[in-house]
Amino acid sequence: MHLLITAGPTHEAIDPVRFISNRSSGKMGFALAEAAIAAGHEVTLIAGPVQLPTPEGVTRIDVTSAADMFDAVERTLNDHPIGCAILCAAVADFTPATTAGQKIKKTGKDKMTIELVPTKDILGSMRDPLGFNGTLVGFAAETTDVLTYASDKLTRKRCDFIVANDVSQPGIGFDSNDNAVTVLGKDGSQWSASGSKRDLATRVIATVAG
Ligand code: CTP
Ligand code: CA
Repeated sequence: MHLLITAGPTHEAIDPVRFISNRSSGKMGFALAEAAIAAGHEVTLIAGPVQLPTPEGVTRIDVTSAADMFDAVERTLNDHPIGCAILCAAVADFTPATTAGQKIKKTGKDKMTIELVPTKDILGSMRDPLGFNGTLVGFAAETTDVLTYASDKLTRKRCDFIVANDVSQPGIGFDSNDNAVTVLGKDGSQWSASGSKRDLATRVIATVAG
């Protein structure tokens, strides 16, 4: 099967030297790509700005912003028969309304406001308008009411599975090699596990593309 995986954060440019981003390291998405290759699948990995080596056998497309990531996902769906899409990236929800062409200067300002506008929800666009009919897997990084928010995203974004992780706990999740996840299926199935992102990735791949 050919899998599409998104990973990492996005950078939303404020000016040529500044951006808005988040703490995602990309490690979980890269671990999923590696585990999918190990399970005999083909993988196109669409990666935001991260400093991680490309797992052997993976086709990698590097992108910067949420808009770039949306376009790369759309192109990949058009170019390949994707059977399963795992959208693991921590995509920025908002982006500056305008990007300054030159570095913004502080002189003469006693306050600074940046107007933000919403980005497109890639996962929420997969069924419609992107027309994806394969197995759709989302992630939900939450700090409270993890399973409530995650199951809401499962339904609202028309996923087959959602991987929920609690990012409020120190030492797991964002930027760590370890994670604790609960995988919810639209059929009501559910399992939880903690451990290395590599081991969890193997279990997630077995569940969603096994
Ligand atoms: N996602 C996406 N495109 C976006 C925002 C989110 O594809 N513009 C995907 C993420 O990759 C993840 C899922 O949607 O698979 C859930 O992301 P999350 O940030 O947890 O949910 P949101 O719907 O953005 O809601 P909120 O941030 O308010 O919790
Ligand atoms: Ca979000």
